[in-house]
Amino acid sequence: MRTKVAIIGAGPAGLMLGHLLGREGIDSLILERQSPGYVLQRIRAGVLEQGTVDLLRDSGAGARMLAEGLPHTGIELSFDGDTHRIDLAALTGRSVMVYGQTEVTRDLMALRAQSGAATVYEAADVALHDVGGAPRVTYVKDGRTHELACDFIAGCDGFHGVSRASIPPSALTVFERVYPFGWLGVLVDKPPVADELIYAHHARGFALCSMRSATRSRYYLQCRIEESVEAWPDDRFYAELRRRLSPAAAAALQQGVSIEKSVAPLRSVVVEPLRFGRLFLAGDAAHIVPPTGAKGLNLAMSDVRCLFEAFADHYRGNSAAGIDHYSARVLRRIWKAERFSWWMTTLLHAFPESDGFSRRIQRADFDYLVSSQAAQTVLAENYTGLPIEG
Ligand code: APR
Ligand code: PHB
Repeated sequence: MRTKVAIIGAGPAGLMLGHLLGREGIDSLILERQSPGYVLQRIRAGVLEQGTVDLLRDSGAGARMLAEGLPHTGIELSFDGDTHRIDLAALTGRSVMVYGQTEVTRDLMALRAQSGAATVYEAADVALHDVGGAPRVTYVKDGRTHELACDFIAGCDGFHGVSRASIPPSALTVFERVYPFGWLGVLVDKPPVADELIYAHHARGFALCSMRSATRSRYYLQCRIEESVEAWPDDRFYAELRRRLSPAAAAALQQGVSIEKSVAPLRSVVVEPLRFGRLFLAGDAAHIVPPTGAKGLNLAMSDVRCLFEAFADHYRGNSAAGIDHYSARVLRRIWKAERFSWWMTTLLHAFPESDGFSRRIQRADFDYLVSSQAAQTVLAENYTGLPIEG
């Protein structure tokens, strides 16, 4: 078997890359370890930057997002109960779209099925060979071993995937920050507490009120990394959430029976470079951001847009420049998103080790934000998404 681009992983990064390549007439094969059902039941983030919305729409993958997604022109920040709205649209002329990553994945899966392009789900033991020369990928499906030869391999297999692990450690540098807390999330079929997202700092810890639709809410509480969901029955969760919100938001919060509850650790990771021979890393395989800035899915989308442009240039016979510059080009934007996610996390969370000095610096950061349009513009332009340069 042979294809031009072997894509490892059918998350949003792999599916979007396959979609963009297919529109350009460049064939690809996606290898995914899990079943489609498993991929679609993972609950992930839900805020799309303007650039992600534009990419989905312009590539013909945005119909349902445009019909069902919720455009948001602002977010609310709350600090020890004091609230301030950041008017994203007035500050930047741009906005964001609330539309679940699961739905983006579902739409891209449907498009791929329609296009007839191949995806092998439940591909076991995926292994990369001769990545520096004539790359091949082997995998086991239904008990038989298959071999796929290709021009390039796109490692879109997330943080625990095989692609990054196939690069010799001496060829990669890993940059990492582990935060001393996690997020406990619940999904509930109740209308959201407010029309817009609320990011709340409280001495007891961070809280986030998000949503998936007008009738489905997603709430998070900062918790200990080793927290167990069993320790958080719904009554305890909502009582704690109300304590961390402003009095108005606490009064408006509708409690319900959660349909999902999970704990996720927070960390920042970047590996460099994102190319090893003919293997290219994109999305969570290349970097992790803490969810505070809502950047994970959006970074994956801007990575694959650049990777697609690099492959398209190569196959059009124009130049190898895109391929040669991919890593440096996307890393510049990745680091800016890492900075923003780190800053939002630092501003809004309660750090177990923090002393009076750091807590007053956090408060001063919030007070400055509230009083300065320039500071709000910095937040708004990062939140709605920075341009792809170069
Ligand atoms: N072989 C084949 N597929 C694999 C392997 C493997 N060895 N390891 C992992 N995968 C698959 C996973 O099952 C998953 O479906 O790769 C896919 C990676 O998808 P994601 O983890 O969703 O990563 P990505 O597509 O980069 O999406 C970016 O945005 O909101 C954030 O972190 C969130 O997942 C999200 C990310
Ligand atoms: C979510 O809805 O899951 C969500 C929204 C905003 C974030 C993180 C997660 O910053």
